[in-house]
Amino acid sequence: MKLRRWVSIATVSLATMAALNTVPATAGKPYDPTKQTLGALGLRHGLQIGTAVDIAALNDGSNPQYLRITAAEFTSVTAENAMKWESLEPTRGKYNWGPADQLVDFAKRNKQSVRGHVLVWHNQLPAWLTTGVADGSISKQELRELLRKHITTVVSRYKGKVWQWDVVNEAVSDPWDNPPTLHYKGFWAQHLGPGYLADAFRWARAADPKALLFYNDYNIEAFGSGNPADDKTQFVYDMVRGLRAQGVPIDGVGSQGHLGTQYGNYNTFQVIEALKKFTALGVATAFTEVDVRSQLTDGVQAGDSEEINPRLQASAANFSVLMKACLAVRSCLSYTVWGFSDRHSWVPGWFDDPPEGLATIYDENYQAKLAYHEIKSDLMLAGPPYVLPRITPKPRR
Ligand code: XIL
Repeated sequence: MKLRRWVSIATVSLATMAALNTVPATAGKPYDPTKQTLGALGLRHGLQIGTAVDIAALNDGSNPQYLRITAAEFTSVTAENAMKWESLEPTRGKYNWGPADQLVDFAKRNKQSVRGHVLVWHNQLPAWLTTGVADGSISKQELRELLRKHITTVVSRYKGKVWQWDVVNEAVSDPWDNPPTLHYKGFWAQHLGPGYLADAFRWARAADPKALLFYNDYNIEAFGSGNPADDKTQFVYDMVRGLRAQGVPIDGVGSQGHLGTQYGNYNTFQVIEALKKFTALGVATAFTEVDVRSQLTDGVQAGDSEEINPRLQASAANFSVLMKACLAVRSCLSYTVWGFSDRHSWVPGWFDDPPEGLATIYDENYQAKLAYHEIKSDLMLAGPPYVLPRITPKPRR
């Protein structure tokens, strides 16, 4: 009798739980995934959800929402600018570690992992370096030595504190460049030749045996023609395959994910295919700088909802495609947005002819947009058999 009673109570409560789709998490309180953060939902899959952080905004006491959301919603952070060479060494030999240190400390306090961004890039280099090369006072040999020293100094300082380093960023040209045939572009290739890539990864590895070392670029979300002369994804794929074949310690490929609603959309399977092909080379993958911008037409700027709504929907759809693809591929370790609020987005300052914006997952008043809710639902609804825990590669020696 007692047993029958117990069984029937158990049956009723199980049925109730199933009906409410609840998990008996905390005493009496139903588990409500809509109240979870992106970061907490990501951890169900071992996936880190990150944001780029503007240190000035973090320190702006009149704007507490920024700090609150950065700390609460994300499990990973990237310095939007503070770890770039011009920020770290504005004057030759004089390092300004303050803001970068602050971010690393912030991450530690909030149990967040750090994506280090960026060691080698042609932009945001200090003027003393670029003018020195231009006027011939810094020779090629000295330049190579300066790069070695920079990588060694920065990686050593944050040894054991940075999870993934963007070692080289945006080394490859675009089809709209001149010449249009894809090639190694920019300051480093011009002055040191493409061999700098292998050197940079080796120097970074020597300074930190455990960090995951990434190549990072944009417009590599999906394959195109398959011809490396005009398909940037293919060019980068061939490059990574070549580096791995030479034994270069490259552990990952970061796909920035700067998309625009005016360009049409990839479907989830195209992006899955690209992530899988990179994975087959033995490397991890990540979305490192996701934002999806739109043109700010006169109607958008005047607040016309008929023009704004389709843009918000298209933006959300693109955020979601990258999220679903990432979830589906176990090598995809993190999904980072390049700023979380339209109040602090690089887009309006960078893409101004025609003006663009509306690129992030929160509006200017820190209200979550459709994109936020859609990537949250992707994280919530995912699970076996199609979404499985992440697989992290061993850092390559
Ligand atoms: C951008 C920052 O968001 C801006 O604040 C800065 O003025 C320029 O750089 N790809 C990258 C990032 O790898 O470092 C860039 O960040 C955006 C494009």
